[in-house]
Amino acid sequence: MIAVLLTFTLPMDFKTRGRLSWLAYLFYTLKNRGLVRTCAMGYREWRKERELGIRTFGMTKAETCPTCCGEQAGGHLYQPSSWVLFKQAMAALPFSVKGKVMLDVGSGKGRAMVLAAEAGFAKVIGIEYASGLVDVAHVNIERVRPRFPDTVFELHDGDAIAFALPKDVDVAYLFNPFDAEALGRWMTTMMPQICRPLHIIYMHPVFAHVLDSFSPALSELHRGDRDEFRIYTLNPPAALKSAVV
Ligand SMILES: C[S@@+](CC[C@H](N)C(=O)[O-])C[C@H]1O[C@@H](n2cnc3c(N)ncnc32)[C@H](O)[C@@H]1O
Repeated sequence: MIAVLLTFTLPMDFKTRGRLSWLAYLFYTLKNRGLVRTCAMGYREWRKERELGIRTFGMTKAETCPTCCGEQAGGHLYQPSSWVLFKQAMAALPFSVKGKVMLDVGSGKGRAMVLAAEAGFAKVIGIEYASGLVDVAHVNIERVRPRFPDTVFELHDGDAIAFALPKDVDVAYLFNPFDAEALGRWMTTMMPQICRPLHIIYMHPVFAHVLDSFSPALSELHRGDRDEFRIYTLNPPAALKSAVV
């Protein structure tokens, strides 16, 4: 009975919850995906982890990791991306990712970076402020490097909001790294830096209203099943105009 009550009352934003975050996630996934899909997804994620030989599972609060920059305001805890959802997002992009560059904003243990390499990105950049997670990501990347010899991996320790947007980025990937206020700060800092269209994949888009407020510079291109992710295009001239207003 308690479980049923919790299932229907817990907010979607399980990432900000502390010790019980795994339980909150379980309720979230059961409520939104159902038991069969939750089990099937879990099994496929586990298989993919084994196939790639990486270790990215677990939920970690940044506070429990040694942090390189001390700036944690508005940051969410670590949880790895789902391969199942990542693949759906790749299929929904309006171009082939071959030869393109992806930036993972809050790259954690590097799972999305590895999945991006597998998808065919030529270069994958990660920025993560919890240096304990960065260390694990380095190990994971070294494990898969021989599989993806054509992909350039670039991993940075630091605050994603202060990170200068590399000029060659085509896709910015965010798996719910920030709360609403920090997401707004990231957008406001990043927008004036873009000089060509940028596609943004927002996984678990609990603060989509923040991104929507950057319209018309930002327009929604695609919404995944059950609203598990959204894809946006950000255009430079309008973006600059919007940033000034
Ligand atoms: C939900 S995890 C996603 C991990 C990874 N992108 C993936 O998809 O597998 C969000 C990550 O963002 C990181 N993060 C949150 N705020 C950050 C900030 N200001 N700068 C750098 N990393 C941040 C957290 O430490 C956490 O590892």
